[in-house]
Amino acid sequence: MAVPINLNPARMTPTSTAGLTRTKKFRIGIIGTGGIAHSHMRAYKAFENVEVVALADIIPGRAAAFAKEFGLENARIYNDDKSLLDNEELDGVSICTYNRQHAGPTIYALKKGIHVLLEKPMCVTMDEAVEMMRAEKESGKILTVGFQPRFDKNMQMIKRIVQSGELGKVYYIQTGGGRRRGIPAHDNKDSFIREDTAGIGALADIGCYSLDMCLNALGYPKPITVSGFKTDYFGKDPETYRYKETKAEELAQKFGVDDFAGAYIRLEGGIHLDFRISWALNIDTPGDTLILGTKAGLRIPSTNCWNGTTGGPMTLYRQVAGEEVQETIPLLKDGPNDGTLWERKIGSFLDAIEFGGEAPIPTSQILINQAIIDGIVRSAEIEREVEIHIPEI
Ligand SMILES: NC(=O)c1ccc[n+]([C@@H]2O[C@H](COP(=O)([O-])OP(=O)(O)OC[C@H]3O[C@@H](n4cnc5c(N)ncnc54)[C@H](O)[C@@H]3O)[C@@H](O)[C@H]2O)c1
Repeated sequence: MAVPINLNPARMTPTSTAGLTRTKKFRIGIIGTGGIAHSHMRAYKAFENVEVVALADIIPGRAAAFAKEFGLENARIYNDDKSLLDNEELDGVSICTYNRQHAGPTIYALKKGIHVLLEKPMCVTMDEAVEMMRAEKESGKILTVGFQPRFDKNMQMIKRIVQSGELGKVYYIQTGGGRRRGIPAHDNKDSFIREDTAGIGALADIGCYSLDMCLNALGYPKPITVSGFKTDYFGKDPETYRYKETKAEELAQKFGVDDFAGAYIRLEGGIHLDFRISWALNIDTPGDTLILGTKAGLRIPSTNCWNGTTGGPMTLYRQVAGEEVQETIPLLKDGPNDGTLWERKIGSFLDAIEFGGEAPIPTSQILINQAIIDGIVRSAEIEREVEIHIPEI
């Protein structure tokens, strides 16, 4: 029998994000015990009513090492997602596998009647997204996609500003961001850069955050057309991109995804979205996010390592009594009882399991994010604008 995790009493929070008292005991599994599973596990540890009872990874020894690292002596260890899901009675599962292994384990878990917290991006192809949403609908279980910036107060402020009407009618957005040198690969990790594991590079990895930041603020308007491109000049060339690794040549040979992508996206409601995202380029930043409305414009500073957090205070530009003014929006800080971003993400999943209702980050929204990414990939392939159809599920 696995024992309850009770390692961090100072952070235990019996009260849910919805202000309700959590009483349920949760039996949780984690599929994929690589990098990001650690963030899930650290957050699960903050909840005394959570037991992580099972772990799976296809790399031999990896799940067992993870169990040892977190003192989960009694957690059962499996060599793949299916054997875990076939043998465990779970309330929920964190799916922390690489992108190409998002759809399969998610669909299987939902078919087994288990609620799913899936890491971002949702998946690689639109066919996968549709199949996942059908499984979600048929199961009646929760499928939430792990965009933790949604729980960041400054990210939430962007939505509050847009929804308040302060900007007037939003008609143009420039967004994206990225890194000058930041391909997420090193001697011991290539899952982000291989076609067979990641499927899509910077575009899906960090592009999904930029799209979510803006589209969520606007209420996820539907895309109509996309004209996009993607390039891989850096990742494939160890001379251009100096991997600081002993296996630089090997990494460059394995590189099978994009390291830079961009698009012009026409959204319903007359909104134009100008997007670009990078893991590597020869400039300090591909630009701040700008949200332009008829009454005011908002500048959200970029960061040099974009991962869905604001790069500093935002600025609002508008006209007051005929004068042009600009105001700084001070950065909002978390309170002592707010928990970490990851605890809020995990807590929202637990709340949804216990109290029901819509998934905290619903697939109905993230499908639109995925459709844009898919549109960019398709458009890049044929070097033409493509139409976007959001399927009814
Ligand atoms: N939310 C965030 O901030 C954040 C940060 C990093 C990564 N991610 C996302 O998390 C996912 C994983 O990233 P990572 O950095 O942990 O990658 P990783 O390669 O370190 O870990 C993935 C693990 O999944 C295992 N795996 C793959 N298929 C499996 C299967 N069918 N059953 C069991 N195990 C399987 C692999 O062996 C590997 O150990 C990616 O989709 C990535 O985009 C999210």
